[in-house]
Amino acid sequence: MRNDIHMFVAANWKMNLDKKSISEFTKSLHKFKFSNQINSCIFPPFIYIDYLHDLIYNLPISVGGQNCHFKSSGAYTGEISAYFLKETGCEYVLLGHSERRILNNENNAEIKSRAQTAINSNLKVILCVGESLTNREEGKALEYIEKQINDCLPNNFKNLIIAYEPIWSIGTGKIPSAFEIQEMHSHIKKFVLKISNKNIDVLYGGSVNTKNIKEILKITNVDGVLVGGASLKAKDFLAIYSAAVKHLNTSL
Ligand code: 13P
Repeated sequence: MRNDIHMFVAANWKMNLDKKSISEFTKSLHKFKFSNQINSCIFPPFIYIDYLHDLIYNLPISVGGQNCHFKSSGAYTGEISAYFLKETGCEYVLLGHSERRILNNENNAEIKSRAQTAINSNLKVILCVGESLTNREEGKALEYIEKQINDCLPNNFKNLIIAYEPIWSIGTGKIPSAFEIQEMHSHIKKFVLKISNKNIDVLYGGSVNTKNIKEILKITNVDGVLVGGASLKAKDFLAIYSAAVKHLNTSL
């Protein structure tokens, strides 16, 4: 992330929005005045990456893939390579999302090799980590996230951001307390600095919406947000984006 910019607003559309709704969404984007202080990326379903990219190529919003394979080509039916994402105009790729870990059995070792391949293809990686409610309740959240990061971080990584997304917060309307978010983000930053000697940005994800965004952005060590459900409506996505601009301008 550039030094003069310190806020990231990312939209993970998951398996949502069809061509017609994407076209409508982008009409609102074209009427909006973007800020050069914010980095932003939309992660649409793979099949619409090209379509979305063509519609917004002249706006300061990047497009990203929701995953990529650990091989750059080969006999992997149904998979998408990091190289294809790059060639189709993606700047970023999301890796290790809990929905992929849980529903598609992706483990830390596999996520690490996906991240390595993505970096070799010059994609910027947003690596998602997050604990279950049981881990949190047993007081093991910090330890669990530390292991996920230790096992997933590729060697000599560059252009990598971590998104802290507690599993129990995704799509539930429940968010950790400001203290819990601050504690986790600061732990992640310190841990990554210790093992890699690199400073890293950490985004928060999980039930971010237009109502709680202001409070979330105020939390120390939150460098931005990864938004799911609330990013599906252009109006809400832009309200979250505007809150980030406002936050930066009031904290300058
Ligand atoms: P929600 O914002 O819908 O909780 O989803 C968060 C998420 O999983 C983003 O990657």
